[in-house]
Amino acid sequence: MSIDLALIGGTGLYRFPGLSGVERRAVDTPYGFTSDSLVVGSLGDCRVAFLARHGESHTIPPHRVNYRANLWALHHVGARRVIGINAVGGIRADMGPRVLALPDQIIDYTHERLTSYCDVAGAEVRHIDFSEPYTAKLRRDLLLAAQRAGVPLVDGGCYGATQGPRLETRAEIARMRRDGCDLVGMTGMPEAALARELELEYACIALVANWAAGCGDEAEISLPEIFANLEFATARVPPLITALIEA
Ligand code: HPA
Repeated sequence: MSIDLALIGGTGLYRFPGLSGVERRAVDTPYGFTSDSLVVGSLGDCRVAFLARHGESHTIPPHRVNYRANLWALHHVGARRVIGINAVGGIRADMGPRVLALPDQIIDYTHERLTSYCDVAGAEVRHIDFSEPYTAKLRRDLLLAAQRAGVPLVDGGCYGATQGPRLETRAEIARMRRDGCDLVGMTGMPEAALARELELEYACIALVANWAAGCGDEAEISLPEIFANLEFATARVPPLITALIEA
């Protein structure tokens, strides 16, 4: 099967509108179950595979996502370009709620996740280059698509990946800001590194759902507000992807 583009939808994006001729494909992987079946369909002339990272009913928390199975399955069905869509908190002043950003760096604070295909007995040990964790060409194509679609997309930023599922303390976010993080999310890693191990092109569209702890005026982060902001930001993803595909 040839797939032109794979999309991994995060919180708030459980199916991709506009796909036609949709078929569901359960993929058996050496790493166990994917988060859900792959949904394969057409968008214009392109074949697109969509996968809901947390499952279509959002039953899998960030630290329990089987990232290895998900990426392996997409690779197995022939995807070579993968876009992860991830809800995040904003740390940098220009990354407030409802912003869409295209990070260009990552700092990984996660732990106890299965982060590599190399830790299977007998697998060859490979040290991938990860200086630039996202694929430059795919990022450029997304920036051009955003311009064409009239979707504001902030170019660059450092994604700090936290363990979750709880949100962070103010002190943790203050440390992350000192470290150079601009965004904080729970699902950016190990997804990006696994994509690189499989030699997939990979980029992340980060949807800012809230100010990270201590970055806004509120004493607490409100869940209803997170969902309202995510709904707004998520609505901008299909036109962006459509413009990418039309190019
Ligand atoms: N922190 C971590 N992950 C998130 C946040 C946050 O504030 N908002 C949405 N995903």
